[in-house]
Parts: sequence; structure tokens; C-alpha cells
Amino acid sequence: MIEIHNIHKTFGDKKVLDGISGVFETGKTNLLLGASGTGKSVLLKCIVGLIKPDIGSVTFDGTYFTNNKLDIRQEIRRKIGMLFQGSALFDSMTVEQNIEFPLKMLSDMPKDERLDRVNTCLKRVGLENANKKMPSELSGGMKKRVGIARAIAPNCTYLFCDEPNSGLDPLTAIKIDELIKEITEEYGITTIVVTHDMNSVIEIGDKIMFLYEGKKLWEGTRDDIMDSNVDELNDFIFANRLMRDAKKVEEEEEEEERRRQG
Ligand SMILES: Nc1ncnc2c1ncn2[C@@H]1O[C@H](COP(=O)(O)OP(=O)(O)O)[C@@H](O)[C@H]1O
Ligand SMILES: [Mg+2]
Repeated sequence: MIEIHNIHKTFGDKKVLDGISGVFETGKTNLLLGASGTGKSVLLKCIVGLIKPDIGSVTFDGTYFTNNKLDIRQEIRRKIGMLFQGSALFDSMTVEQNIEFPLKMLSDMPKDERLDRVNTCLKRVGLENANKKMPSELSGGMKKRVGIARAIAPNCTYLFCDEPNSGLDPLTAIKIDELIKEITEEYGITTIVVTHDMNSVIEIGDKIMFLYEGKKLWEGTRDDIMDSNVDELNDFIFANRLMRDAKKVEEEEEEEERRRQG
């Protein structure tokens, strides 16, 4: 379980996070939901320690992280797997080298064990035998899968994914969401997924925290989200639906155009 207490962050004169508290549960896919620019990525970076909050603290399973001693912070860091926005694979490394990388950095596992672990993780994300491929040879969805395999390779306790399905077509996006949820439950990981996509809410939102202009305005499960009395959340859901419908119409028009041109 990850707990955050009263997180504040200001850049210059712009208040980005304004006193956010909450709990992210173990074995569940916890979503940080909100429109673009509302502070989701900054909050995620505060949680993993890439950004230091001005005020507030984070605990991982009861251990204080923010402001704690370096060795305690490092020990927690070792248990964190991250899937960054845009998957961020090392382009000059093969799939195998990408996944092996955190094992080399974070453990003293011998080579043959590392390769076993790489193969286990590749199998788990449905990419057996992709070891020698280069990232440039992979589709967007496959890159995300490799990113997930790399994140879970060191046997993470906590998994953070920033917009894991951005840039993917809707079907691939759902598959990636589902994979994250399955892995979370299978290994009992505490997972936090940043998203602005209502599809993810419906598919995988065990627990959702809705952010709006740096504040937490609502928290609950996907079953309750349609019944919230929060105007900003209802507007967000409505706008999401309009955008999805508009995208669908656009895709249908493009398809029609392709048919016409033979
Ligand atoms: N390192 C930074 N320095 C200054 N401003 C930042 C920095 N990181 C993020 N911001 C600002 O904080 C706000 C929230 O950003 P972000 O958390 O990335 O939003 P999102 O919800 O889309 O992930 C934005 O206005 C962004 O410009
Ligand atoms: Mg972001």
C-alpha cells in the first residue's frame, strides 16, 4: 500500500499540486485520472522521488520515503518498476538487452539467471522469442509490452505506468491495460496508472483518484464513477465521450474515403 499525505508542489508561481492525500491499494490497479496538464505526471514523479514535493510525504507499506535516509530510499527504489510515457526503450539495444538492463543495474544476478528472467518476462507479456529484435522493428503495442517486461524484470513490488496506452489504437490499448491489470493481480503488485482515458477506467479502474487543477476532487471505484456529484468529473467524462465519438466518426470517414478510392 502506498500512502500520500498532503503533497504540494509549485513551479515558479504555478501551483501544480495543492495538498493531495490518498491511498493506493496493494494488488490493485489504482488510476490517477484527469485532463491533460492537471498534475498527474508531476504527482507520479513525486511518489517515485524524481521530483521532491515542497510539502507532504509518501510512505511505501508503512516506510517513509520522502526525506528518509538515502539507503532506505534506495531500497524502496529497487522495488519500483516504471513504464514511462512513450515506453522509452533504449533504441540501440535489443529487446533482450533492454529488459536485462535493470537486472544488471540493480542486482548481482549472474548472466544465465538474468537471461532466464528476461525470457520469463518476455513470455509473460506475450513476446517469446523477440529477444534479438531492435525497438525500431516493433509496433507501438509491442514496445509497450517490452516496457512492461523491463519494468517487472526486477520483481517489482510497485509498478508505475504513465499513460501506458497513449498513441495506441483502441484494441491494442485495451490489451495493454488488461496486461497491466493481470500482472498486478498475479504478483500482488501495488500499481498506479496515469491516464486521461475513460476506456481505462471502465476496463481496469479498481480504484480511481480524479485530479483537477492540482486537487483531488473525487475518489472511488469504476462502479461509482458515473454517480458522482462532482461537476468537474461529470464534465470530464462527457468530454471524453464526445472526443471518442468524434474520433470514431473521423475513422469511419477515413475508411469510407479509402473504399471510394479503391
Ligand atoms: N519540471 C517542471 N517545471 C515547470 N513546470 C512543470 C514541470 N513539470 C510539469 N510542469 C507543469 O505542471 C503542470 C502539470 O503537468 P503534468 O503533471 O505533466 O500534467 P499531466 O496531468 O498532463 O500529466 C503543467 O502545467 C506543466 O507545464
Ligand atoms: Mg502526464
